[in-house]
Parts: sequence; structure tokens; C-alpha cells
Amino acid sequence: MIRAARYSDFAAIKHIFDVAFDDEYRQRGVDIVKRISRWQQIYPLIRILALFPNPYQDAFNVHVFDEDGEIRALIQPPARNRERTTWHIENVAVLPTFRGQGVAKKLLDFIFDHYNNLGVNRFTLEVDTKNASALRLYEKTGFRRYTTVNYYRLNSSKLTGQLKLATDPVEVPEGFRPHKASDAVQLFELYKDSTPSNVRMVDERKLSDFKDHALEEVSSYIKEQLKYCQENHWVVERDAKIVASMEIVAQHRKLPHVLRLQMHPGYHDLYEPLLRFAMHHLGQFPARSLLGASLEHQGAKAEAMQAIGFKLITSDHLMVRDNLQVITLAQFDNTAIKVEDAVFKPIFAERN
Ligand SMILES: CC(C)(COP(=O)(O)OP(=O)(O)OC[C@H]1O[C@@H](n2cnc3c(N)ncnc32)[C@H](O)[C@@H]1OP(=O)(O)O)[C@@H](O)C(=O)NCCC(=O)NCCS
Repeated sequence: MIRAARYSDFAAIKHIFDVAFDDEYRQRGVDIVKRISRWQQIYPLIRILALFPNPYQDAFNVHVFDEDGEIRALIQPPARNRERTTWHIENVAVLPTFRGQGVAKKLLDFIFDHYNNLGVNRFTLEVDTKNASALRLYEKTGFRRYTTVNYYRLNSSKLTGQLKLATDPVEVPEGFRPHKASDAVQLFELYKDSTPSNVRMVDERKLSDFKDHALEEVSSYIKEQLKYCQENHWVVERDAKIVASMEIVAQHRKLPHVLRLQMHPGYHDLYEPLLRFAMHHLGQFPARSLLGASLEHQGAKAEAMQAIGFKLITSDHLMVRDNLQVITLAQFDNTAIKVEDAVFKPIFAERN
């Protein structure tokens, strides 16, 4: 039986994550079992957030494969966009003794059917380029690769070394300023200008995806007040156009800092000063490693990060599965086309 997870499933869920993903998450500095335990602590809040549209509505949307009360596998698909037409398969895992019996395929088919009925037309996922069994599974269930993302880490000693190099006060590029709520339109433009069409077609991002959501703002404020982490967002504006966006999640907890950078293709020279600013900014926080990522088309970003000591930790393929479009051809009307007059002779006309 495949069903939505309940509070009583938490022990089994933690066990599956521990067995299947502990190494993968640890590579990125995340203790996944601890993270699930935190979800468990706020379970009543999760249930409330699941009731109405908000960015956290499906953050813990787990379905389990339950065989006579024994949880053998799970799948976690949150919505990827605010219109909820594209869903992301976040985690699929089967306990080792039950692998190779079609369980993962059943879970995926269940999710496709369940969400297709709710009007969902696209699924995405991310899979380690070295995970051969998962890649086979996803290809078999209709996914295809549309790009690849590389994850990089700058370890904390390298980060401290970079700090010494950063000038004090650090020089910022012309037009550098904190992000404002009214930047959404410009950020959407920057995303479109700097992202190739194969990625944009899958992402289907809309202006609404670039607007701040009140609940996210509240969550960020609370995390800052509790001294968990501080989230900052800056942009570079040139000639009334945003050409770079940089977000930093700086941690007080024992988690890696995170850097997100989006750059207009005409302004690659900004990578170096922005990275220098990031190093300088992180100097106020505990020494942690710093994570960054670059998509296949962001070669200049990868080069700039590697130049200051970032090392590649893993590469993931991003895959997409669209619903098959059923195209119903209109009934062919034999009288509508005079074959002898047509310069272009349609092949179906000959068949008639
Ligand atoms: C990847 C994983 C979910 C597959 O689960 P599973 O229940 O064994 O997969 P299924 O039995 O449903 O396999 C379906 C198809 O996937 C492919 N596949 C699955 N495991 C495979 C393996 N070890 N080698 C090659 N192909 C494999 C096969 O094509 C299979 O179809 P077939 O049996 O008709 O040839 C499971 O190995 C797992 O939990 N791995 C650890 C967690 C993980 O890596 N998750 C995916 C990343 S998000």
C-alpha cells in the first residue's frame, strides 16, 4: 500500500534516510537524520502549513510504501513552482533488502497518477551522475536529462585564508546595493537573460517566483533572531538594470554557509569582486565551509569559484518528465486540398 506518511512513521522514515542518503547529505555538510528529527518536533506546524498555499505547504510531503505495517520505501515530492504545475521528486529510497523488486517504480507511478489527476504536468528531479541504478530507474520511467549541476565547496581553512586577502574595507562594484522587494521584475529579467532556453522551458519560472513571500520573510527574521543563520541578498544595478544577484546564507549553526550567484552573461567580470565581498562578509560568522553550485552553462562562474579555492564535490543530472501530450488530429477533409494545385504535396493526401 502506498499512502501519505503519518507521525507514527517517523522512526521508519529516519531509518530509510539514514541507510540511503546519510553519506550523500553529509558530503554537503547536512546531517539528514537530525534534520528529519527537527521536522518531527514541528509536526503539528507542518500539518497546519499543509492546509493552505504557502512556500512550505509541501516541504514535508512524504509517501511511504507500507507492506503489512512495515515501511519499506519512501518518496518525497514537493511542488516546485507557485502555480503547482511542476513537482520535484526530492528523495526516493528503498530499504536495501527490498531493492530490485519494482518498489521504486511503483512509488513513482503512484506519484505520477496521483498528481496528474490534480493537473500537474511536469516532474523534475536531481540525481548524482554516478548513481547508475537511480539513473536507469529514472530513464525507464520517462525522465530525460536537461542539464547538469556541479556542487563546489570552499573549506573553512581556505575561507579564512581568503579573508586575509580581502581588503578592508572591501571594495564593492559600482551599483552594488542590498536587494529590495521592488526588484522582482528586474530579477526575473536577469534570470531570463542568463538562463538558456532548455533550462527555462523546464523551470517555467514566473514573476511570482521572484517575489518575496511574507512567510519566508518571517522565517528568515526568526532564524536571525534565534541566531541560527543570517540571509542576505544583494544586487548590482547598472543603467537601471540588475546585472548580478548574490544571496548568502551565513550560518551560526554547525552547517555550511551557502552562496547563490546569478550573473548576466555580459558582466562576468563581476564574479571576482562579488566573491571577494562574500568572503569578507562571511568573516563576521563562525568559520564554516562554503557551498556553491554552477549549472552546465555557468562555466565562468565555476572558473571564478575554483580560482579562489572552491573544489568540486559532486555533479548531479537534472532530469524532467513531461506528461505525454496526446495530439488529436482533426478529421482529414478530402475536399479541402486540391492535390494537383498544391506546390507542397502533403503525404497524407497521397494515402487517401
Ligand atoms: C535507486 C533505488 C530507489 C531503486 O529502487 P528499486 O526498488 O530497487 O528499483 P526498482 O526495482 O523499482 O527498479 C526499477 C528499474 O530501475 C532500474 N534499476 C533499479 N535498480 C537498479 C540497479 N541496481 N542496477 C541497474 N538498474 C537498476 C532497472 O531498470 C529497473 O527496472 P527492471 O527491473 O525492469 O530492469 C534504490 O536503489 C535506492 O533506494 N537507492 C538508494 C537511494 C537512492 O539513490 N535514491 C535515488 C536518488 S534520489
